[in-house]
Amino acid sequence: MPVVALGADHAGFPLKEDLKGWLIAHGYDVVDLGTQSAEAVDYPDYAAAVGGAVIAGKAARGVLVCGTGIGMAMAANKVPGIRAAGCSDAYTARMSREHNDANVLALGARITGRDAAIEILATWLAAEFAGGRHARRVEKIVELDRVRGPESPDAETR
Ligand code: RB5
Repeated sequence: MPVVALGADHAGFPLKEDLKGWLIAHGYDVVDLGTQSAEAVDYPDYAAAVGGAVIAGKAARGVLVCGTGIGMAMAANKVPGIRAAGCSDAYTARMSREHNDANVLALGARITGRDAAIEILATWLAAEFAGGRHARRVEKIVELDRVRGPESPDAETR
């Protein structure tokens, strides 16, 4: 089973714990990168940790939980190579894998309850990238990291 890296801020901490239990019960290896309590923390720190673990190959996929999923997705998508999808239903979760090859799932604990989050997570983990015409489009996303990254010739003018 693939390794799944988990991260959450204080708002996402309880749901992250629920998802961790579900993952372990279903045979996944989990790397829990925190947070480990409801004490207030900054979500970009956890997005960076999970994104980094995925890019380093320490986890095949990452799952991030904050209040809305928005901040986690924004921050994780700053990590080159990460394609984080904020999902609040199973359809977008499946599409994020089949069409966008998302490697990180972002969930909002204040908008998605435990059972719905587990359905979204299970759907997302089961779905595979469809390739074909979608591969060309995902490659163009990958290319954005290359042409817009810090090594870009126009980086100093941005
Ligand atoms: C924390 O209050 C909240 O801002 C955070 O969990 C997340 O929703 C940000 O996008």
